Amino acid sequence: MSEVLLITGGASGIGAATARLAAEKGYAIAINYRTKEAEAVRLVDELKAFGVRAIAVQADISRPEDIERLYRVVDEELGPVTALVNSAGIGSGPARVDESDAGVLHQLFQTNVIGLILSTKEAVRRMSTLHGGKGGVIINVSSMAATIGGRPGSSLYAASKAAVDTFTVGLGKEVAGEGIRAISVRPGFTRTGMTAEIEKDPQRLADISATIPIGRPGFVDEVAKPIIWLLSSEASFITGAVLDISGGGFRLGYPVPPPVTTLSAAAEVA
Ligand SMILES: NC(=O)c1ccc[n+]([C@@H]2O[C@H](COP(=O)([O-])OP(=O)(O)OC[C@H]3O[C@@H](n4cnc5c(N)ncnc54)[C@H](OP(=O)(O)O)[C@@H]3O)[C@@H](O)[C@H]2O)c1
Repeated sequence: MSEVLLITGGASGIGAATARLAAEKGYAIAINYRTKEAEAVRLVDELKAFGVRAIAVQADISRPEDIERLYRVVDEELGPVTALVNSAGIGSGPARVDESDAGVLHQLFQTNVIGLILSTKEAVRRMSTLHGGKGGVIINVSSMAATIGGRPGSSLYAASKAAVDTFTVGLGKEVAGEGIRAISVRPGFTRTGMTAEIEKDPQRLADISATIPIGRPGFVDEVAKPIIWLLSSEASFITGAVLDISGGGFRLGYPVPPPVTTLSAAAEVA
């Protein structure tokens, strides 16, 4: 039996890049998607071309009942998960705290934090040797925003990702004796659908690049490859840890106050 990998928010960006690399390694893969059905179906076809089993499962990670259904479908079609990448995540829109909206805030934390935790709960129930599982690995996709409170206007998003990091560090310790490793990865600004708006504005892209010590944004494979490594037995002594995948984080002296108070959702990522 192959390892069974579930990727939440797996139809695009970092999740999809991870899926492609995981297929090369022989994982059976479940791609969870919320709205991106066409992308998920196309990706699953691509994965199957590697000779692995792959399915696409619609589920909204902000809905607890969807998460339970997602794991039941994976159980039935691929077997219990042995690897999980919680990649589903959203920004908070233009949201300084004095502009924030309770509904948006609720959805932000329901997706980035509570959904991620409930997904992890279902995975632990299947992986933990306490529950008869054979162990597993959980990777939570956080953000460099967590390290500095986010770029200006992104404090709410940053807070949600800081919660992911703290949860993961504690989780790693909680389940270390049950065959499960848990690691949080913190991408810096990485070119995906989340950053597409910024990329349309060359000056803004250059300004952001100037804040990154390596001097450019990351590409999805540069995040996906470390995730694949962390999932593997090569990383068998790593748990309860947080890995920055960020081209050096933020250049000294950053953040510089931006000229606007309402930032696009894209600007919130790391
Ligand atoms: N790109 C960056 O610069 C960057 C930096 C730091 C951290 N991150 C984190 O990396 C993760 C992946 O983002 P990405 O950059 O790869 O962007 P992306 O391509 O937009 O991926 C995010 C995925 O999450 C899905 N998603 C959102 N809400 C969901 C929900 N309620 N249920 C299920 N899926 C949901 C989205 O699908 P729908 O559109 O259908 O909702 C999308 O496929 C996110 O957690 C993000 O916060 C990204």
